[in-house]
Amino acid sequence: METSPTLQPQRIGVPRETFPGEKRVATVPDVVEKLIKLGFAVTVESGAGDAANFSDDAYRAAGAQIAGDAAALWAASDIVFKVRPPSSEEVALMREGTTLIDFIWPAQNPDLMQQLAAKKATVLAIDCLPRTLSRAQKMDALTSTAGVSGYRAVIEAANAFGRFFNGQITAAGKVPPAKVFIAGAGVAGLAAIGTAANLGAIVRANDTRAEVADQVKSLGGEFVKVDYEEEGSGGGGYAKVMSEGFQAAQRKMYAEQAKDADIIITTALIPGKPAPKLITAEMVQSMKPGSVIVDMAAEQGGNCELTVPGEAVVRHGVTIIGYTDLASRLAKQSSTLYATNLLRLTEELCKAKDGVAVVNMEDDAIRGLTVVKDGAITWPAPPLKQTPAPAPKAAAPVVEKKSSHGHGTGAPMSAKTLTIVFAVMAVLFWAVGAYAPVAFLGHFTVFVLACFIGYMVVWNVTPALHTPLMSVTNAISSIIAIGALVQIAPPDAGVNGRPDGLILWLAFAALVLTAINMFGGFAVTRRMLAMFRK
Ligand code: NAI
Repeated sequence: METSPTLQPQRIGVPRETFPGEKRVATVPDVVEKLIKLGFAVTVESGAGDAANFSDDAYRAAGAQIAGDAAALWAASDIVFKVRPPSSEEVALMREGTTLIDFIWPAQNPDLMQQLAAKKATVLAIDCLPRTLSRAQKMDALTSTAGVSGYRAVIEAANAFGRFFNGQITAAGKVPPAKVFIAGAGVAGLAAIGTAANLGAIVRANDTRAEVADQVKSLGGEFVKVDYEEEGSGGGGYAKVMSEGFQAAQRKMYAEQAKDADIIITTALIPGKPAPKLITAEMVQSMKPGSVIVDMAAEQGGNCELTVPGEAVVRHGVTIIGYTDLASRLAKQSSTLYATNLLRLTEELCKAKDGVAVVNMEDDAIRGLTVVKDGAITWPAPPLKQTPAPAPKAAAPVVEKKSSHGHGTGAPMSAKTLTIVFAVMAVLFWAVGAYAPVAFLGHFTVFVLACFIGYMVVWNVTPALHTPLMSVTNAISSIIAIGALVQIAPPDAGVNGRPDGLILWLAFAALVLTAINMFGGFAVTRRMLAMFRK
C-alpha cells in the first residue's frame, strides 16, 4: 500500500460542467454530507447543480462551500469530480498534482491524456472500471448511465409516438397495445425492455449473446432468436462481430420485425468498433407511418442507416431519434446515481475515513481505473488475473434445440436418458416390492411419486420463478398443521377426554409456528409474483 503525500484532509471540488447542453453534475447535496463524514472538505462551483435542480443553498446546507467561479474552484481543489472529460481550458485551470475522477475515454482522447500527464495529475477514468469485478459494480457509472438512458429512450419514443403503449378497451373502441422491438439487450436495452413492458407495450428483443434471453423474459419481454446458430459472446459480457451468414439471417429477421413494430429502440454496440448497422433505409420505409426509432448508438455511428446524431428527424414518415445526451435529459436522476458511484469509489480510496484519498495500485479495481498516476500514463491497465469470460454453460442455449417442455429453461433430460432412468427405477421398485414389508411399500410408492411430481414441477418452471415456487412450497408444507390440530382436538376426544396438558401446549406452539410459516409463505409468494406481473 502506498502512503499519501499529505495527511491534511483533502478538498474535493465539483465544477459546473462546461460541455454545451450538459445538465448533469458530479455530486449532489446528499452525497456531499457523506463525503464530509469521510473526512473531506467539499467545494462546489456556484450554479453547478442548477440544471439538475440542486441549488447552491442545498449544497451549502449539506456542508459544502460555494466557489464563485471555475478558476477559484480548480485552484482550491485537491481532488476534482466531473462528468464530461475536461476541456483544454479546464486543464489549464488545474493545479499540478490534482487527482481527477471523471469520464475520460483515453482511447478517444490521446491529447487530453498528454495534457493531464503534463499537469502531473492522477486521473481515475470512471469509464475504465473493470466491470466484470463484482466488487466494482457499486462504482459502475457506465451501467448507471446506460440504465437511465435506456429508460429515457422509451420516454422519448413515447413522446414522439401518437398512441398509447398499453392496449385499452374503451367505450370509444379497442386500442391495441404498441409493439416495441429492442435491438441489443445490454444494460441500456434491458432498462428499455423493463420500461416499455411496464408501460404496457408488447416488447420483443434480440441480442447476439444468447445468455441474455432469460433476462429479457424476466423483464417482461420476448426474446427473438436469429435463425442461425452462432454464439455472439466476445467475453466479459460484451459482444463480438458476427459472421456474414449470421448478419444476413439477422437482417431478414429485423426486416420482419420492422414491418410489425411501432417502435424500435436500438442499443447494439461492440466495444471499440463502429455500431453495427442493423436497421436499413428499406426497413425504415417498411415501417408504419408514425412509427418511432430511437437509435441509442448514434454517437458510435448509429445502428440505423438514417440516424442523424444528436437530432430527431422524420424519414419516410418515421421519427428517428439520435439524441446523444439521453442521460443528461434526466439530469437529476443520473447525477444522483453518478454521485453515488463516485462516493463508493471515494470510500474505496479512503478506507481510513481520514479525508485522504490513497490510490492503491495493488487493488484491481483501482488499478483499472487509474489512467494517469502522478503524471505517468498508466493506461491501459494489464488484463485482470482471473479471466472474466462467462462460463461456456451460459452460452449453451444458442445451440440448444427448442424445448417442448413449456417454459422450462433448466435442460430437461433427453428421451433416451429418461427411458433408462425409468427402467432402472422400475427394476428397483420391483426389488423393493418383492422383499420389503407391505407397510413400507405404501410409503415408498408415495415417496417415489412425490419425487416425480417435484422433478416435473421444478424443471418446468422458469428459473426466475424458482424463489416464489420455493416460498409457496414452503407454505403448502405447513400441512403439518393438521397434525397439530389432531393433537389439540383428537377425533376420539369425546371418548377418552382431553389430551394431557403438555401435548396440548406443544400442539398449540406447533400450530402457531406453522401458521406463521403458512401465511408468511403465501404473503411472500404474492409479493414476489407481483414483481413479475405487468
Ligand atoms: P452494452 O455493451 O451493455 O450493450 C450492447 C448490447 O448490444 C450487448 O448486449 C451486445 O451483445 C449487443 N449487440 C452487439 N452487437 C449486436 C448485434 N449485431 N445485434 C444485436 N445485438 C448486438 O452497452 P450499453 O451500456 O447497454 O449501451 C448501449 C448503447 O447505448 C451504446 O451504444 C452506448 O454508447 C449507448 N448509450 C447512449 C446514450 C445516449 O445518450 N444516446 C447514453 C448511454 C449509452
